[in-house]
Amino acid sequence: MSSPSRASFGSKFGIIMAAAGSAVGLGNIWRFPIETGQNGGAAFILIYIIAIALLGVPLMVAEFFIGRHAHTNAAHAYKKLSSHPFWSNIGFIGVLGGSLILCYYVVVAGWVLKYMFLSLDGTLSTLFTPGDASGYESLFGNFVSSTWSPLIFMVLFVLMCHFAIAAGVRKGIEKLSKIFMPALFVILVVLVGFSLFAPGAQEGLSFLFHPDFSKLTTSSVLSAIAQAFYSLSLCMGCLCTYASYFGKDVNIIKSAVSISVIDTLVAIMAGLIIFPAVFSAGISPQSGPSLAFIALPGAFQQAFGAVPAVAYIVSVLFYALLVLAALTSAISLYEVPTAYIHETWHIRRRYAALVVTAVCLMLGTVCSLSMGVLGDMHIFGKSVFDFLDYFCTTIMMPLSGVFIAIFLGWVVKRDIFMDDVTNGCTLRTTPAAVVHWLLRWVAPVLLFAAFLGVLGVI
Ligand code: PHE
Repeated sequence: MSSPSRASFGSKFGIIMAAAGSAVGLGNIWRFPIETGQNGGAAFILIYIIAIALLGVPLMVAEFFIGRHAHTNAAHAYKKLSSHPFWSNIGFIGVLGGSLILCYYVVVAGWVLKYMFLSLDGTLSTLFTPGDASGYESLFGNFVSSTWSPLIFMVLFVLMCHFAIAAGVRKGIEKLSKIFMPALFVILVVLVGFSLFAPGAQEGLSFLFHPDFSKLTTSSVLSAIAQAFYSLSLCMGCLCTYASYFGKDVNIIKSAVSISVIDTLVAIMAGLIIFPAVFSAGISPQSGPSLAFIALPGAFQQAFGAVPAVAYIVSVLFYALLVLAALTSAISLYEVPTAYIHETWHIRRRYAALVVTAVCLMLGTVCSLSMGVLGDMHIFGKSVFDFLDYFCTTIMMPLSGVFIAIFLGWVVKRDIFMDDVTNGCTLRTTPAAVVHWLLRWVAPVLLFAAFLGVLGVI
């Protein structure tokens, strides 16, 4: 399965950038801010941070440990730690889930790419009519339901991922992450700067940060857990696969904490960009695609319209930010099946990437067309796109989380975990012991309850 000449990351900075690149994605930019706003602002952020500390970081450490210990792809890694037929196969959930998420993620990433061009060529600014979003609404509606345009941009995006993956772990994934992540951070800081000076920014800030504990319900706690999982790219094989390229000297607990902090900071900064602009434009905040593709293009024009050049720059930078964030996340999803095929079929990475690209293009095409000509095709009453999203994030992610926590807490010998996570007892043992305790006692219970909660059982 693995070979002594297996690829590896070249530096600790590269590791943090690649894993943070996986975590920081569309989920941070269009999902986190709105969840926060709707679930009690700072009160939700508090619950989110608790979810990250109790579940996110321990599960990330678990995936890092499994990947680095086994030194192979996500599906085979579990086999190295258990010969039991059930436990040795739970890694497949990650490979399957990661591959399926990839197929619809690239569709949305294609939209983002298209909007970057639309802001570059000035279309988004010319469409602007104060107080009327119908221009943006029909632009988006017509675009996603058309056949060719979304497909062309999806193919462009898939090709970008393909070449990054085919270039290899160090020359592709690591090199690009080391350039893209700092660039993303610079863009974020510039955009936060602009947004905070938008007239009426104050109202947006209080929407985001005013702690309203009365809005905290069981469902907001579930939302916080789901958001933490999605945002940290947990349980879908990405972190486990990346960790199989880590060196033995990497402090995996410290890395998991740094990545979680970066991811949370980016999410909060995205909120600092979006809400001041949205409120300053007098638009009511909404979530998902309608926020990024209908409300925000107008909000930027309205908020910064006094200086059109600023509105133009903010709009271009915002979509460039989304493209970068989507690209590094999609690359991590791509790597999961690529590493699996490469090591299972014993074929070169380049050819394995070709297989992934072919499958992703086929399924991605179906997802994209499910917004238009294939709109009548339904799985369990949902469009193909919505079904994949629901199935992966609501069923596979928490289920895989429960299994990973039980596997680490109860099946794998504690000594193996402690020895590996402390790099052969050269690091402090307390953090590793705390993580193990959380994986054994806290994570399975919380995750199982969350799983039943999302299914509406409790
Ligand atoms: N974390 C990514 C985001 O926030 C999405 C993702 C989920 C990536 C699962 C990989 C695995 O957009």
